[in-house]
This record gives sequence, C-alpha cells and structure tokens, in this order.
Amino acid sequence: MTSRPHMKDPERLTDEPGDKAGQAGPRKVFVRTYGCQMNVYDSERMTDVLAKEGYEATDTVEDADVVLLNTCHIREKAAEKVYSELGRIRKVKDERARSGKQTMIGVAGCVAQAEGAEISRRAPVVDLVVGPQSYHQLPGLLNKAKNGETVVETEFDIDAKFDHLSQAADANPVRRPPAAFLTVQEGCDKFCTFCVVPYTRGAEVSRPVQQIVAEATRMAAAGVREVTLLGQNVNAYHGDGPDGRTWGLGRLLRHLSEIDGLDRLRYTTSHPRDMDDELIEAHRDLKSLMPYLHLPVQSGSDNILKAMNRRHTRDDYFRLIDRIRQAAPGIALSGDFIVGFPGETDADFEDTMDLVRRVGYGSAFSFKYSPRPGTPGANLADQVPEEVKSARLAELQALLSAQQRAFNDSRLGMVCDVLLEKAGRQPGQLVGKSPWLQAVQLDAPKELIGTIQAVEIVKIGSNSLFGRLTDGQDSAESYAPDLKEVAFDA
Ligand code: 5AD
Ligand code: SF4
Repeated sequence: MTSRPHMKDPERLTDEPGDKAGQAGPRKVFVRTYGCQMNVYDSERMTDVLAKEGYEATDTVEDADVVLLNTCHIREKAAEKVYSELGRIRKVKDERARSGKQTMIGVAGCVAQAEGAEISRRAPVVDLVVGPQSYHQLPGLLNKAKNGETVVETEFDIDAKFDHLSQAADANPVRRPPAAFLTVQEGCDKFCTFCVVPYTRGAEVSRPVQQIVAEATRMAAAGVREVTLLGQNVNAYHGDGPDGRTWGLGRLLRHLSEIDGLDRLRYTTSHPRDMDDELIEAHRDLKSLMPYLHLPVQSGSDNILKAMNRRHTRDDYFRLIDRIRQAAPGIALSGDFIVGFPGETDADFEDTMDLVRRVGYGSAFSFKYSPRPGTPGANLADQVPEEVKSARLAELQALLSAQQRAFNDSRLGMVCDVLLEKAGRQPGQLVGKSPWLQAVQLDAPKELIGTIQAVEIVKIGSNSLFGRLTDGQDSAESYAPDLKEVAFDA
C-alpha cells in the first residue's frame, strides 16, 4: 500500500458536493496497491488527482470515503484476490453506512482493464471500474458513480492521462520522500507468449522528453534525490525530444543527470533487445546512473526463449552482459526467471541453471509459469505439471539466493554511498539504499533523512546490510529545500 498525506486545498474542502452532515473534516481516500512499481506510481498520481479535489490520503480503510484497489493481473489468481478483498471491504462499507457514511469503492489497474464490467457483475459492491489509462478522470467518474450508476471506464487514451496527471502533481507541491518513481513509458509491443501486459496496458507509448524533465525537476525541488524511471519496457523508450528528434533512454538519462539535486538515477524494467549502445554508454559515463541493472532473461534455453517469443538467444544475452560489464565493471545484475513454461524439459531447465551460474546475479526474481487467459502460452498443449514447476523453482531459487548472499557478502568492509530514506526498524536507526539497491540499516539521526552519506558496511543480514556512518565523511551535501521557497509552475 502506498499512500502519502497531501497538502489540503482548504478552499475546495468546504463546498464539495457529497460531504455528508456530521462527516467532519476532509474526505479521505484509501489506496491499496498490488503488483509492480508502475502501479505504485499510478497510485500516487491517483492520490494527487483526488488531493486536488480536497481528498486526504488515509492508511485506514474504515476512515475512507473512497477505497481504491489498484490491481495486478500478471501472475496467479490475482483477480480472485481482488474479489476476496472486496468481500472484506463490503463489510466496512456496510458498517459505515449504518452511521450514515457513504463509501465509494473503485477497482483500478490491470484487473480492471482485463475484466471490465465483469467485476461489478460479480461484486455489485463496486461503484467504479477504472483502467490504467483513465486515472485523470477519477473525480468526474466518482461523481457519476455517486449518483448510483456503476461506472466502467477502460478506454486507452494514454497521452491524455500523462498530461493531466502531470498537472495534478503541479497543483500539489508537497515534500516528497527522497526516492521516487517516474513513469516515462507504458505498454509493450513485444508480445512474449506468457505475458498479459500488452493486453492490459496496450501498445508502447513514451512520454515527451520535456514533460519528463519538468516532472523530474519538480521532484528534485520537492526533495527527491533518486528517481527510478519506470516503464513496462523502459529501455524501448522513444520519446519526442525538444530538438524534434526521437530520444532513446540513454539520451534521456544523460539529460536528467544534469538536473540539480537529482543525484541518483535508475530505470526498470528492461528487455535485452532494447539495450542499445547509447544506454550502455550511459552506464559507462554517468556517475548518477546507479550500478544496478534489472535485465530479465526469463529462461536460459534457446528452445524456450523461442517459444516465449523473446527474440534473442542465450548467446546474445551473454554477449550483451559482457558489453555491459565492460562499460560498467561492478554493476549488479538482476533478472526475472520463469520456470515451467509449456514444453520446458529437464535439459531446458538445466540451461537456465547454467546461464545463472555463468552470469552471476546480485539479486533476482523467479516465478512458476502461470497461464494467463488470452495469452498464446495458455493454449499450448504441453503444460508442465505443478510439482515439476515447484521442484525447479526451489532449485533455481537456492542458486539465486546463494548468488545474492555472495554478492552481499562481498560488500563487507566497503565504504559506499547510501541515500537515507526513512526511519529504520529500531529507534535511532535509519534505512537507506546502497548504489546496488540493497537496503542498508544504520544508526543515524533522523535529520539525515534525504541525505547521501558515506557508510561503511559492517555486517550482512539476510534481508539487508548493516552499516555505520564514517567519521565526518559526508559524500554529499544535505539537500533539504524549504518548500515555501520553491516556485511551482502550475
Ligand atoms: N507466469 C509467470 N511469471 C510471469 N511473469 C510475467 N508473466 C508471467 C506468467 N504468465 C514474470 C516475468 C516478468 C515479471 C514481471 O513477471 O518474469 O519479467
Ligand atoms: Fe501487474 Fe504488469 Fe499490470 Fe504491473 S503492469 S500491475 S506487473 S500486470
């Protein structure tokens, strides 16, 4: 769940229709986020759009006048999870209704896009079904739904979404956490045969460079020091540049690296076919581009890569990794793997294990293949039995975990920059991220949140590293702008 408090616009709070008598204070919105970082970003933008209308974010579903589930459809029975969550929320809605409070329930995200009106048929408690391209229309859609109509909006008009969401963020200049996401690209044209994304998120669309630069500049002014550029296929980015040409991701990163205060850049998630020279050179040249790359390969078997329509071989991947490591020695590689794709034999799986051994990952995600309705993979005859998938997943995860442990262990005694993001688990502790995206816990005063410090890694835990501030060696100035002095060009 990601929601954060927003500044209120007091003038909008008093005269909004729909505020019931006895319902003190601003209306509240609760957003639950499932799935990828793109959904995290979208949830924040939905909160921004509603903040403009006077809504405050809440972490408590019982307090919420509007409940939004931002759903994921990528694996397993995601839709079923949403229906059981809706059952729980219905009880809250009934309880609130008994004290005269209205609760609007919306389903957003990829399940909304994929299931559309089916959701409100199965769960009549739902007032609004809204696909990922229509979040900018939320206030109008909610108003419609308040009149008792069940509203379903799943059109694809992605340019309109980005234009409007940028403006909503303009109108809500708040202090932001030091690390933030920024969507630069959505959708996918690759049609891997296991994947539902091209159907739920549509064709590839890239935001224009200037729009991204404006948003990144505003983020920096609001205290953000690290931006992760997001896209389902982010390195296929091809946005209109200010010079009238199409810019790739490498060029965009180079440009963003010049924004004052943005000390760290990352991007995710990438396809091996789209790692072009410009992007690899960006890893070589840009100090602010962090030495971490999530580059999913999915399988190490040429047969399976072909069946998945990945359009590259294992050798292509090895050559690419060599080029990346030459440009950026020490880069931490991460990836995604699917085991048990239809037709995967023991020998195919062995090829995946071999690829992992040869590449050496700093971290990785691995999944059992899950047939997604409507994708070509789901119709293939030779589906792999569940127990075989489970056994392969266990074997692969054991190898990947050992690699991750070895990578983490190799940081012991190192001094590295850590961006301190928030309070840690224990009082007096803060937690931040290493350049290689590892969580680092350390004792530090909370005034250091939002600063980048040189930290010595003194212990390796199972989920995070432990560090200590090195004596007086701040590697970067504290960057804590006073928001009152920040001019927003809304
Ligand atoms: N089954 C299992 N894993 C999947 N992924 C995508 N679709 C499926 C599926 N049908 C995984 C891929 C992708 C990650 C986001 O989710 O590894 O890179
Ligand atoms: Fe899930 Fe993919 Fe949709 Fe993200 S884009 S929410 S991972 S289906």
